[in-house]
Amino acid sequence: KSYRVAILGATGAVGTELLELLEQRNFPVSDLKLLASERSVGRTLQFKGENLPIESVSDRAFENVDLVLASAGGSTSKTWAAIAVEKGAVVIDNSSAFRMNPEVPLVVPEVNPQAAANHQGIIANPNCTTILMAVAVWPLHQVKSVQRIVAATYQSASGAGAKAMAEVKNQANAILQGHSPVAEVLPYPLAFNLFPHNSPLNDFGYCEEEMKMVNETRKIFGTQEIRITATCVRVPVLRAHSEAINLEFEEPFSPDEARDILSRSPGVKLLEDWESNYFPMPIEATGKDEVLVGRIRQDISHPHGLELWLCGDQIRKGAALNAVQIAELLVEKNLLKPAQVYVSR
Ligand code: A2P
Repeated sequence: KSYRVAILGATGAVGTELLELLEQRNFPVSDLKLLASERSVGRTLQFKGENLPIESVSDRAFENVDLVLASAGGSTSKTWAAIAVEKGAVVIDNSSAFRMNPEVPLVVPEVNPQAAANHQGIIANPNCTTILMAVAVWPLHQVKSVQRIVAATYQSASGAGAKAMAEVKNQANAILQGHSPVAEVLPYPLAFNLFPHNSPLNDFGYCEEEMKMVNETRKIFGTQEIRITATCVRVPVLRAHSEAINLEFEEPFSPDEARDILSRSPGVKLLEDWESNYFPMPIEATGKDEVLVGRIRQDISHPHGLELWLCGDQIRKGAALNAVQIAELLVEKNLLKPAQVYVSR
């Protein structure tokens, strides 16, 4: 069996990766629609050697579509997801629009594949930093319960989209030629600089990105008990995010045991060479499916604490790959069928 698929936001950083992954992973596609804004009409993108036209998104675009992979920002998803569901499609949404909606499953296939079974038309793809952390922490949490997570992130420009990636390159060029860098997509120059994540701040001084790590991880893990805090920082890396993660368990967890577990965990690749001080780096994680984990060590400040370091491709496992894996899960479990109940807009 094969499916009629639409990519909403096909021209974006995640959209183009979705297109590549559908081809690479041989997802059973019978028909593919590429949707973006008016601005992109007239352009084409290649799929399996064929040039497909970009169409502008409209009600009619979702007719005769089984699956929508949406990655065009929260407001675009809010406008179009319910319409696509009404027309009979299942939507896997990469934006934050529906993630915390109790009617919408928030799925990382390595962690909570069972949650997908309860979908009512929309399944949310979690935030990129959250996905990467969840893939690495979940297998440990299965063995000894995590009580508290303290994370610091080093997030690449790709998280802000294709235009932000281009802007960082232009900024680097400008600086190298002695000119002032121009920041239009990102709030400040990122080349040769870094800044705390620029998402809106709440009354406690946490930015939205940090609160996504807190709230989404709890939803994915199915527990409100884990205490989580994070500091998110944008760094001048083009693609692939890094995270320093401190974990506090209910009892001691030896680094060797953690290493053993992570070396057998789905979606994780252990990368540690202590002799040469070689550990995961964004350039190693770029283009890879796995979350690279290393520097697993005892936290010298807490007997139940572990420190670890990870890098993961934000566009791949942090976004497009996770969405395609959800789609594969729906196919495998025969869950790719129209909603019986409509999700409220
Ligand atoms: P377009 O290229 O036509 O602007 P990124 O995350 O890399 O910035 O990509 C965002 C994606 O979302 C692009 O494909 C972009 O299309 C699409 N997009 C943004 N706004 C809209 C909109 N209002 N309607 C449809 N697609 C949109």
